[in-house]
Amino acid sequence: MRKMIAASVLALLPIGALAADAPPEWAYPAMPQGYVPPAEPEVAQRVTGSQKTYTPKEIGNQFAPPDWFPNQHPAQPAIVARGKAPEVNACSQCHLSSGSGHPESANIAGLPAAYIFEQLQEFKNGNRTSMLPGRSNNMVRFAKNMTDEEMKQAADYFSAIKPIVWNKVIETDTVGKSFVGEGNMRFISAGNDKEPIGKRIIEVPEDEHGAKKRDPHSPFVAYVPRGSIEAGSTLAKTGGNGKTIQCGVCHGPDFKGLGNVPPLAGRSPIYLYRQLNDIQHGTRKGNAIALMQPVVQKLTSDDMIALAAYMGSLTP
Ligand code: HEC
Ligand code: HEC
Repeated sequence: MRKMIAASVLALLPIGALAADAPPEWAYPAMPQGYVPPAEPEVAQRVTGSQKTYTPKEIGNQFAPPDWFPNQHPAQPAIVARGKAPEVNACSQCHLSSGSGHPESANIAGLPAAYIFEQLQEFKNGNRTSMLPGRSNNMVRFAKNMTDEEMKQAADYFSAIKPIVWNKVIETDTVGKSFVGEGNMRFISAGNDKEPIGKRIIEVPEDEHGAKKRDPHSPFVAYVPRGSIEAGSTLAKTGGNGKTIQCGVCHGPDFKGLGNVPPLAGRSPIYLYRQLNDIQHGTRKGNAIALMQPVVQKLTSDDMIALAAYMGSLTP
């Protein structure tokens, strides 16, 4: 009987009501189950400007990922270069030795050290999860297995790196068809097929092979709907008549961070979108998040796309 009632209640709900609390698929790309990556021959790979070579297996090593340009960053603490097997992968596997990261992780170059440390604590104590749990599970596991000292070393390392321009933001009506592959990264499909961008951010590597080799000189491009950057700029600077709060109050007048509040300028738009969405849905919590709650409360998905596009388009 109870089952029948449950079933009839479900039948009455508009379709949108059930879907409403699912994270938008485009923003949380997940590699489809059973996806078989194209086979790579086990031969030495190179990237422009580096004397080093790594085989695909070495590039995929979670505990010793490639360091193509060892002279372009400070000395790496062990936790960043090699992690702590078996539970903590090397930070540079996903965030790269430069901290610039990939759209499916986060750009952590130049974030305030105290902020990085605090976020690792938030992952550890369960305050910070993602609307799509698979996206934060790894960080939660790593943080739970790190000492405060290791967190501090990693925080100091990434904080000391000056962020570079890492993503272009391009407004468009149509975008190449794409798919989600290895490492939950989105790639443009072969061929020249286009589709409407709709209300999405499509963030892909400029050079698929460079990104797969974890080359810290291989940047990304975020395609966004036309008009997003201007709309985001207005919202960020005015607060949109009480819809939100001017971002500069806390993130600094040029959005490059202020004290322990993280920078937004030049960071990955799709990452920024996910964070706004996770904060709005209460899966990302923590002490300092209270300040962000009134900011996100009334934002629509389109507002978040606009804010993310605008911030991503600025020089870091
Ligand atoms: C397997 C990939 C992977 C590895 C390895 C990894 N991270 Fe992450 N990291 C992520 C992802 C994915 C996120 C975004 C999580 C989310 O959206 O909630 C993230 C987010 C973060 C953030 C939050 C950034 C912000 O702006 O709030 C910090 C800080 C961070 N990672 C530090 C580290 C450190 C330090 C290490 C090494 C101990 C590390 N990560 C290793 C994937 C990884
Ligand atoms: C009243 C202060 C305040 C205002 C105004 C504010 N923020 Fe924040 N924001 C914060 C704080 C503090 C954090 C860090 C939260 C934490 O430590 O967990 C944050 C974090 C964020 C993050 C997550 C960054 C990351 O690295 O993961 C995003 C995205 C963000 N803010 C966007 C915005 C945007 C866009 C606006 C303007 C529409 C804005 N914020 C306005 C205080 C503010």
